[in-house]
Amino acid sequence: MLRDLDQPSSTLYERRRLYAAVLQQLLFEPLAGRSVLDYGCGLGEWGVLMATEGARVALLDLSSVAVQIGLRRAAASGVADRVRGCARDAADLSCFADGEFDLIYANAALHHTLKYPNALAELVRVLRPGGKLLLAETYGNNRLLNWLRRARWWLSRQPDEAGEEIILGDRELDLLRTCFHHVEARPMNLFAMAKRLFRGRFQSPLVRGSLRFLESVDDRLLRRIPSLRRFCGEILVVAEK
Ligand SMILES: C[S@@+](CC[C@H](N)C(=O)[O-])C[C@H]1O[C@@H](n2cnc3c(N)ncnc32)[C@H](O)[C@@H]1O
Repeated sequence: MLRDLDQPSSTLYERRRLYAAVLQQLLFEPLAGRSVLDYGCGLGEWGVLMATEGARVALLDLSSVAVQIGLRRAAASGVADRVRGCARDAADLSCFADGEFDLIYANAALHHTLKYPNALAELVRVLRPGGKLLLAETYGNNRLLNWLRRARWWLSRQPDEAGEEIILGDRELDLLRTCFHHVEARPMNLFAMAKRLFRGRFQSPLVRGSLRFLESVDDRLLRRIPSLRRFCGEILVVAEK
């Protein structure tokens, strides 16, 4: 996965800074023997990655097809014995016991589920006291970025149920602070969010050079004016219960 982050042809490339921060955090966690939930797992890449580091992983997704693909990925990676699947709505995690997980990782998933009553309470319930929640999300305090995102959704005619109307912002972070005793937010990418305009064109050296330039502008600006961080477009959240 680390190698893929640097491949312009990879779908991970666009979010490589966010995912590099996630990987650094995940690999910093003692995963071996830990019980981990990949929440809204999609095709299970992250869950299987954690299983290859020795974690016992539950893949959870509303889509049973996604969970099946995740399980096949686990088998192909030789970690089937450490990975189980659970296809259901995250608003009802009754298949899991209270405090069952040491770590819950949700990549681009919580913004889909937060709107359902009970979803956050269920997520908190299945995490053990002292356990961690890791979120990699789009960050939504920047009105200009939100307006552009909405314009894109509208132009690409995404269905309402795609869940894109909720973006994690400071209001949602405050909500998390009511359930977790420590919430650390690490926003990233301000001008570098212009990368969205270059989707599918990262193989061009000019595009990559421009992106690196914007990233270095962000680095300097955000170091000098940390209050601008709340207008960034992506965020890694580490919350401890
Ligand atoms: C943007 S995808 C992210 C997938 C994956 N985490 C990844 O990194 O590729 C969001 C996922 O959340 C799942 N999802 C949406 N609503 C859900 C719900 N109510 N309960 C469980 N999963 C849900 C979708 O099926 C989808 O796989």
